[in-house]
Amino acid sequence: MAIKTVSTTPFDDQKPGTSGLRKQVPSFQQPHYLENFIQSTFNSLEDYQGKTLVVGGDGRYYNRPAIQTILKMAAANGVGKAMVGQGGILSTPAASCLIRKYDAFGGIILSASHNPGGPEGDFGVKYNVSNGGPAPEKVTSAIFENTKTIREYKIAEATDVDLDRLGTVQIGEMTVEVVDSVADYAELMESLFDFGKIRTLLEGDFRMCMDSLHAVTGPYAKAIFEQALGAQPGTVTNGEPLEDFGGGHPDPNLVYAHDLVKTMFGSDAPDFGAASDGDGDRNMILGNNFFVNPSDSLALIAANAQLVPGYKAGLSGVARSMPTSQAVDRVAKALGMSCYETPTGWKFFGNLLDANKITICGEESFGTGSDHVREKDGLWAVLFWLNILAERQQSVEEIVVDHWQTYGRNFYSRHDYEGVDSAKANELMAGLRDQFSTLPGQALGDYTVDYADDFSYTDPIDGSISQNQGLRIGFTDGSRMVFRLSGTGTQGATLRLYLESYEPDAAKHLVDPQEALKPLILLADKTAKIKELTGRDAPTVIT
Ligand code: G1P
Ligand code: ZN
Repeated sequence: MAIKTVSTTPFDDQKPGTSGLRKQVPSFQQPHYLENFIQSTFNSLEDYQGKTLVVGGDGRYYNRPAIQTILKMAAANGVGKAMVGQGGILSTPAASCLIRKYDAFGGIILSASHNPGGPEGDFGVKYNVSNGGPAPEKVTSAIFENTKTIREYKIAEATDVDLDRLGTVQIGEMTVEVVDSVADYAELMESLFDFGKIRTLLEGDFRMCMDSLHAVTGPYAKAIFEQALGAQPGTVTNGEPLEDFGGGHPDPNLVYAHDLVKTMFGSDAPDFGAASDGDGDRNMILGNNFFVNPSDSLALIAANAQLVPGYKAGLSGVARSMPTSQAVDRVAKALGMSCYETPTGWKFFGNLLDANKITICGEESFGTGSDHVREKDGLWAVLFWLNILAERQQSVEEIVVDHWQTYGRNFYSRHDYEGVDSAKANELMAGLRDQFSTLPGQALGDYTVDYADDFSYTDPIDGSISQNQGLRIGFTDGSRMVFRLSGTGTQGATLRLYLESYEPDAAKHLVDPQEALKPLILLADKTAKIKELTGRDAPTVIT
């Protein structure tokens, strides 16, 4: 096999964000763009020669050509074996599962997660390390440094691999194994959950609807819920992965999962509804006419973990990202375990999971997971809920309301302002920072400011420090508002405003969070001048 060395020049926009390099498809289609990033990734790694690399993606437009390029470059760079999901399909948690199970040195995952796909949609490349999790900052920084100076890349001159045919082929010295995308992941799920009890539930009167939003989880959900667990055929809707997700926005929230929301908030709604995102790491949980806030879902999963076989032995601890509500902190306190607060992004959970400091972790952004892999895991969360439902024989709503009665309710909401002018967004953040020295102790409306800071995190395992992770204004009654700019968007800026207040009194729990949080919402606008600076009357998405 001939290896070609191709001359190239650096691109100045290849800095990985919250979750890998995300750009619109036309950016990735520029000559050498993908190649530069992949070569920079190999250049920043050591000791991978002869070892296994996992490759796969969420099936979005450009997945297949990108995989062909990556395989040829992996062969040229001395990778021993590439394990690829059939059809190029691997959900993000399934890729993490394969990396761990087969001792791969890492994986390359092609996805832009919940962002839309198609020729004008988004694409992304993410490198995961040998624990199966997203590369930590020191690796992504090394990749970025390489992208600034790259002059050449290596690629094998070989024919394309038939990604649809299971089995092994060679690209020169490198073996390519096309594997079943679902089998290993499904086996892992079966080892964690009580499939017998869930099957009894699903074969009875219980009705469930799983919306895969034409994204990657379709084949996984059909194999697990309909085939292994006996749910009615048709339980999984929008189950064919499409390159453009059927024109939709593959983000499981109340706005974008509109079909499911219509079903679950209609008359004669099923008992349980769930959706997952483009690459299968996010989840949304709904009951009959009932939305489960992801922060509550995390707390509830932690509180009920003893009902699930894989977690019966107890949890070593829990973690949440900083903007996630503090509902899980209350569970941790009650159960006498540690609760860690990390910056936004799954990569910050990796060290804690590896060191066995935590078993379960999650983010307000519809992400929940555990130490079974090193990514958040959408279907895992759905199975966790089914296992709890099978054990408790109560409705989703009853279980959540009961949780609030025990722990109090953390009212919570996130307001997103998408596609805001970047300069204005930066001005807004700077304006907030400017107030930080004078805010503490000040009365704002009915609240008194306890602290105002820019969240900084010191990793308890390796001591690394991550600064500028979101602006927090905390009040003396425990309420908070947090402001962050998204690190995953590809156009303009997305301002995220996170709001939280705590209500111990069960008589006041059954209130719409937007109502309960109204004073804070008004205060956030006043303090940050959101309407004035963004020119928007209302958020684009409220979750
Ligand atoms: C968003 C979420 C974050 C999540 C990430 C990847 O990042 O807020 O919690 O880890 O997507 O799914 P952001 O766009 O806010 O940087
Ligand atoms: Zn995702």
